[in-house]
Amino acid sequence: MRVGIVGSGSMGWAHARAWHTLGVELAVHSRNWEEATRLASLWDARVSPDLDSLLAEVDVVDVCLPTFLHRETAERAARAGCHVVCEKPLALAVEDAEAMFAACDAAGVRLFVAMVLRFFPQYRAARELVRAGQIGEPRVLRLKRVGSPPHGGTSWFGDEARSGGVILDLMLHDIDYALWTLGEAERVYARSTTAGAHQYAQAVLTHRSGASCLIEAGWAYPDGLFRTGIDLAGTSGLIEWSSDAAPPVQTFHPQKRGEQQAVALPAVSPGTDPFVLELGAVLAALKEDRPFEVTPGEALGALRTAFAIRESARTGRAVTLGVEA
Ligand SMILES: NC(=O)c1ccc[n+]([C@@H]2O[C@H](COP(=O)([O-])OP(=O)(O)OC[C@H]3O[C@@H](n4cnc5c(N)ncnc54)[C@H](O)[C@@H]3O)[C@@H](O)[C@H]2O)c1
Repeated sequence: MRVGIVGSGSMGWAHARAWHTLGVELAVHSRNWEEATRLASLWDARVSPDLDSLLAEVDVVDVCLPTFLHRETAERAARAGCHVVCEKPLALAVEDAEAMFAACDAAGVRLFVAMVLRFFPQYRAARELVRAGQIGEPRVLRLKRVGSPPHGGTSWFGDEARSGGVILDLMLHDIDYALWTLGEAERVYARSTTAGAHQYAQAVLTHRSGASCLIEAGWAYPDGLFRTGIDLAGTSGLIEWSSDAAPPVQTFHPQKRGEQQAVALPAVSPGTDPFVLELGAVLAALKEDRPFEVTPGEALGALRTAFAIRESARTGRAVTLGVEA
């Protein structure tokens, strides 16, 4: 399998390392030639001078570009007959994302949406505990993801028209996780605040199951700080994990006094690197012609929910999903 990465920034770098671990033949194209050359020498890749030459020599194109460039690049890749992996958020409008899926369908190639959170061992472990009935019916979920503004707040990330802002770009990880774990949301309510490049948002999702989820996402902290966490309470127990302490995923059972279980997390290794797991799942789906972890419907559902949350933050009013405007 020959893979061509487009973009050599933070995600181009993370994907190159993972593809290299997976042993694929790798090429890279980026606007930043110097950065692409460094990436290529470290991860044993060829550098393509332009997108067309990359498209001509690979089977899979991995779009690691700023979000506002995803649609046109994915459509060009599909027209060239390449399967497409695309970083999240897929696009800056649901219609653009739908058009990307349609272009890939028309060209007979697949589109994989890279939602890497699904491949983080702690997040998977928490969801598996829920599915195994370890906390009864899940009722109340809190997710947190906060750090500093990307690239010090000076890049395209700070422009909502090009990145989607903190809700579409950062909160989307946890929105997808909440929907994956608790099912569809029927109503969302959000608040956000902005001070220059600093943004902080909070959203409450009411799921059709009756469960509720609070998500916090922030680009508001000093450089170097990045915190994530999960608290998930069910009818018979609680799951807890926090990046501050990085303990095992814990479950607590109030009815069974004193009973507490810890799900040990595997040590970080190529076998547990979320990017290796994610892109390895792409390869397996292609080789074995089977579904990928993130279905098109799920990818679009997470985007629709993120846009509803952004709309609620803008208007200050709750937004009901599933009612087309
Ligand atoms: N999955 C995650 O955890 C995660 C984390 C960060 C970013 N992302 C997403 O990944 C995507 C890329 O983000 P990033 O942090 O790597 O951005 P970045 O700004 O670090 O890198 C973008 C790269 O694209 C190159 N580029 C820009 N315009 C180009 C063009 N027209 N042609 C070729 N190359 C061009 C730049 O030179 C740079 O190498 C975004 O959609 C972002 O939202 C996902």
